[in-house]
Order: sequence, then C-alpha cells, then structure tokens
Amino acid sequence: MTESEQTMVAQCTLEHSDTVKGTILLMQAPNTATLIKGTITGLKPGLHGLHIHEFGDMSDGCKSMGAHYNPDGIDHGDLIKGHVGDLGNIIAGESGTAEFSIKAHRVDLMGDRSVIGRGLVVHENEDDLGKGGDAESLKTGNAGDRLACGVIVARSEDIVEAHGGKHSTSGRSMTKGEKKKREKIVKGMKKDKAGFKKRYGKDAEAVMYATATKQAMK
Ligand code: CU
Ligand code: ZN
Repeated sequence: MTESEQTMVAQCTLEHSDTVKGTILLMQAPNTATLIKGTITGLKPGLHGLHIHEFGDMSDGCKSMGAHYNPDGIDHGDLIKGHVGDLGNIIAGESGTAEFSIKAHRVDLMGDRSVIGRGLVVHENEDDLGKGGDAESLKTGNAGDRLACGVIVARSEDIVEAHGGKHSTSGRSMTKGEKKKREKIVKGMKKDKAGFKKRYGKDAEAVMYATATKQAMK
C-alpha cells in the first residue's frame, strides 16, 4: 500500500483555555480536499476566526504558534485565497457552541506542505478575511486574541485505505488476532452507526476502522 492510496487522519484538541474547548478532526483522501470537522464550545455567540498557524509550539501558550501558515508568502484572506492556514470563520450559536465542517482545498495532510505538527487557533473576534482595509487585516484579519489552540497531530496508526479493505499501520501489518479483535470493535461501533454517520458523514466507516485498528494493535 503506497501513501497515495491512503486516507490520512489527524486531530487537534484545543488547550490553554478554561472555557473554550474543542476537538477537531482532519481527514484527507489522496487528491481531495481536507475535511476539517469539529465542535468548539464555550465561545461568545457569533463569528470567530479559525486558522492554522505556523508552529505546533505551545511553549508560550498560543502565542508561540507564530503567524498563519503561509507557505506562499501572500496576504491574509479566506478559505479560497489567502494564507493556506486561513479557514475563515466559524459560527457559535446562542449556546456558544460552533459545529463546523470545512472543505479546505488548499490544506494538505500529506506531502511537503502537510499541516501536521502545526497549530490550530480559534480567535476572539470575527476574521474580516482581508477586507478590513488596514494593514492588520492583510496579516491576521483582525481576529483578535487567541482564545484556545492545539497541535494538529497525525493519528499515524489511523492511516487507512479510503474505501475499506485492508487496513494496516505504518509500522507493521496486523496479526490475525488483531484483525479479529478489530472486527469485534468495529461491530460494537456499528451499533452507533447513526452517531458516526452524523459526525463523519461518508467517512464514518473509515473512521471506525481507523479507531478500531488503533485499539486492536495496542
Ligand atoms: Cu489565527
Ligand atoms: Zn491568514
């Protein structure tokens, strides 16, 4: 199995906030957009800028994550044009929860522009998407303080084939026993098929297998 046949899965758990919490899942099948799905709670209702920042460095909290990931050296913008790390805004409802699913065509989880190991930051304010008319708008979108952040980490055991079949880890292939164990785990997960479908859409099965593989090979 070569890398070009695999779906890459990564995740990010937000830290450095007592109120703002969240887990974000990133998935990319070869030659497709990266799907970025998550739920963030504890936000003020309204729009909040969301970006991938350059460094997965939290040594000085969210501050040490640097600027927006910008491998092309261009101005800040939106999901379509601008920094690769510009994910636009997420919307928190009255309850302060933002549930989102972003199709990021310029974000990669594989290759030399992979964002794995970089940081994800949710901001206090709305991102003006580079249309604010001032210098800061072209740099940060005036999105304000960094409320919470996390490192995008690969679930390396979760490298799975896009459409079922054999699933192996990067290190070694599964033993017979482990495969059996995995089937059992997946069977259990399928009891909550609706829940997985709701969370991951058509990727539900891949996510189930990825998670089960991880558990079975532990
Ligand atoms: Cu940011
Ligand atoms: Zn930007």
